[in-house]
Amino acid sequence: KSSRHKREWEERDVERTFPSRTRSSHKGSYGRGGVVGGSTTMIGAPILSSGAALRTGVGLLTIYVPESIRSVVASHITEGMYRGLQEENGYFLGDISFDDVKLDAIAVGPGMGRTEGGTKVVRSVLQQDSTVIVDADGLTHLKKCWDLLQYRKAPTIITPHPGEMSMLMDMTVDEVEHNRFEVSRDLAIKHNLYVVLKGPFTIVTTPTGEQFVNTTGNPGLAKGGTGDTLIGMILGFVLQHKSVQEALNNAVYMHGKVADLLLEKGHSMVDIVATDLIKHLPKALNQLL
Ligand code: APR
Ligand code: MG
Repeated sequence: KSSRHKREWEERDVERTFPSRTRSSHKGSYGRGGVVGGSTTMIGAPILSSGAALRTGVGLLTIYVPESIRSVVASHITEGMYRGLQEENGYFLGDISFDDVKLDAIAVGPGMGRTEGGTKVVRSVLQQDSTVIVDADGLTHLKKCWDLLQYRKAPTIITPHPGEMSMLMDMTVDEVEHNRFEVSRDLAIKHNLYVVLKGPFTIVTTPTGEQFVNTTGNPGLAKGGTGDTLIGMILGFVLQHKSVQEALNNAVYMHGKVADLLLEKGHSMVDIVATDLIKHLPKALNQLL
């Protein structure tokens, strides 16, 4: 059963669907999240994802990185718990065990590189009964294990930019850009996925083909690292919303909203960097809550 429903996700939708915190809640109420990524050449990516996840309210966060970058990542993220994984030359070597923790949601991919060990890592993540978000190089690995998706019971989310979408679909970037709705919808329905196709006017598509368009954000976001920040926010929101669709739309909306707010606060589109988004998330959330 598929739907042709398509509409803009507006501020009043965020207000209507944003979850509130109850007095009696504790960290367990807000979920256990995991970030899996990083490599010797992309150390900042898991830092950005983890920082954004923590700033969006994750209860407990465990960070999985190649052992040799663990202490650097840890020096930036005080609140995380760490697993330093087996590696080869600074890249993941193979399977991950999640036997010691039960994670409610896992974001995999930021800065992990495209080595073979990474494919094993993505396979291990997809075999968990957790909500999974796959981004960046994780998508290259996902393309080698589409078969695993049919066994998953928990939601799977992918967050490609048009270049990554063209890789996943064996199309040119132009073909993707000219058919953004159709391409997203086909992929979402075929593999039972939530698809977040990024760019100006990011489109969120549900596994049944419902589609939502975001209008927040500006070209200040067109910089390395802003996508890593987005998946951290998605991780945080997915853990705290009952509906994955609402979590995705709210994360995409707020991600763009922070960038818009930065322009009002004296930043320019030139100087905004991904770290600013994390630092200013509280202001954007405050305006809303
Ligand atoms: N207007 C609004 N939003 C924008 C705009 C724009 N003009 N340009 C970019 N964005 C937003 C996107 O919607 C997305 O949320 O900024 C974010 C950019 O995400 P990515 O493209 O994933 O950028 P980045 O974090 O730099 O990732 C780059 O990841 O996929 C790999 O190969 C890629 O290594 C590279 C890294
Ligand atoms: Mg990216």
